[in-house]
Amino acid sequence: MRVVVLISGRGSNLRALLQADLPVTFAAVISNRADAGGLAIAAAHGVPTQVLAHQAYADRAAYDGALAQAIDAHAPDLVVLAGFMRVLTADFVRRYHGRMINIHPALLPAFPGLNTHARALAAGVRVHGCTVHFVTAEVDAGPIIAQAAVPVRAGDDAEALAARVLRQEHRLFPTVLRWFAQERVSLRDDGRVAVRLDEDIDEDAALVAPLG
Ligand code: GAR
Repeated sequence: MRVVVLISGRGSNLRALLQADLPVTFAAVISNRADAGGLAIAAAHGVPTQVLAHQAYADRAAYDGALAQAIDAHAPDLVVLAGFMRVLTADFVRRYHGRMINIHPALLPAFPGLNTHARALAAGVRVHGCTVHFVTAEVDAGPIIAQAAVPVRAGDDAEALAARVLRQEHRLFPTVLRWFAQERVSLRDDGRVAVRLDEDIDEDAALVAPLG
């Protein structure tokens, strides 16, 4: 399975993917920002990198057209958004229907968009987490593939909560990518996600927070 990863920044999720020894080929990492830390991480893993700066394009459609060309040059089976912080045009999203996934630092559909951890704290939720989902035209709203939940602890600030969620992002994203490589995930015609796993579900499994 050939994978192209899109990033905008730090690249810690990219690193988690590259270090997970997955049975996939990382064909390229593309960033819309030249200063993205993830570019050096990709290079250190021998993955070809490319910077496609959005400032160089007249509008969103022009940028997404160029981005699609850059992606398609690597003939990927899956496009992975790992902290790629751009709103995508409907045409672009349609082109990769069922083969483009994103990780978002919240338990969607709660807290789409930015500043998820501060908003979770402000809302007083006791459980927070991250979501891997197929990308659709509506931002952070596509069909959910998998989620990981963490407790919100008394005394958490946004940084502490973000760090707790990020540790789970670094587990969840490689897990999901492995499922794709094993052809266990598909987006059905009705818009729902099928994940074929052998595990037995523990009907009583729960994350309770706070735990008294
Ligand atoms: C991650 O927390 C990811 O979930 C988030 O950006 C961060 C990127 O960090 N993505 C979004 O908010 C997308 N809506 P990283 O560059 O260290 O992987």
